Amino acid sequence: MTTERPLDRRSARTAVVWETLQPILGGDPLDVLDIGGGTGGFAVGVARLGHRVTVVDPSPDALAALDRRAREVGVSVEARQGDLATLDVAPGSADLVLCHGVLEVAGDPVAALAALHAVLRPGGRLSLLLAQRNAAVIARAMAGHFTEAAALLDDTSPTGRTGRRFTAAEATSLLTGLGFTVESIHGVRVFADLVPGSLLDLEPGSTAALVELEQAVAQRSEFLPLATQLHLVAHR
Ligand SMILES: C[S@@+](CC[C@H](N)C(=O)[O-])C[C@H]1O[C@@H](n2cnc3c(N)ncnc32)[C@H](O)[C@@H]1O
Repeated sequence: MTTERPLDRRSARTAVVWETLQPILGGDPLDVLDIGGGTGGFAVGVARLGHRVTVVDPSPDALAALDRRAREVGVSVEARQGDLATLDVAPGSADLVLCHGVLEVAGDPVAALAALHAVLRPGGRLSLLLAQRNAAVIARAMAGHFTEAAALLDDTSPTGRTGRRFTAAEATSLLTGLGFTVESIHGVRVFADLVPGSLLDLEPGSTAALVELEQAVAQRSEFLPLATQLHLVAHR
């Protein structure tokens, strides 16, 4: 099995996540639950590696798009309409849970993570991708929105369309408080969102070089606060 993917702008944003999951996804077939898997950007890729993937998402439109995407590449993904707050999945049934870009909009993040903990088999892993608050503060300040930036510094409330944001310390504390053991924390999209799309389109080889740079800084603690997202892998 291989996790190689074609290089495009999305690759620059997701390369670090795929790279981190490669040792987990490179072995025997796993039972994978992708909560809030949406249109299947990750789920279909994981199914292509031979894993049994279930996506639970509240959006019927997203699930229809997921179904089309899975058919196009000839893989099977079980699509279920559902919600993180009322998760109807058998306890202890998953080897790997993907929760990417969803905890931000969960009504109660602690209850949501507790439900994901219960769904995992002992030793099973959670891949948690979250919006990071420090990067959002920097983005607002760089756009000249200094008052907004200051207000966001310690704001853990679910504000706006993107929902709540987390720091690495907050995410780690949430997970350990529920009995997870955090294995790794990577910074995702340290530079990818700062680079103009036209540069990547026009400059040959620049996407590959950006992916390499993202991978090189992902585990350097000094770059972690700059990352748009945090990727934590934890086991129960
Ligand atoms: C930002 S998208 C992320 C999609 C996908 N996980 C990815 O990384 O490409 C957020 C997804 O979460 C779903 N979602 C929103 N609220 C949810 C909830 N309470 N429980 C589960 N999924 C939810 C949305 O329908 C959407 O598909």
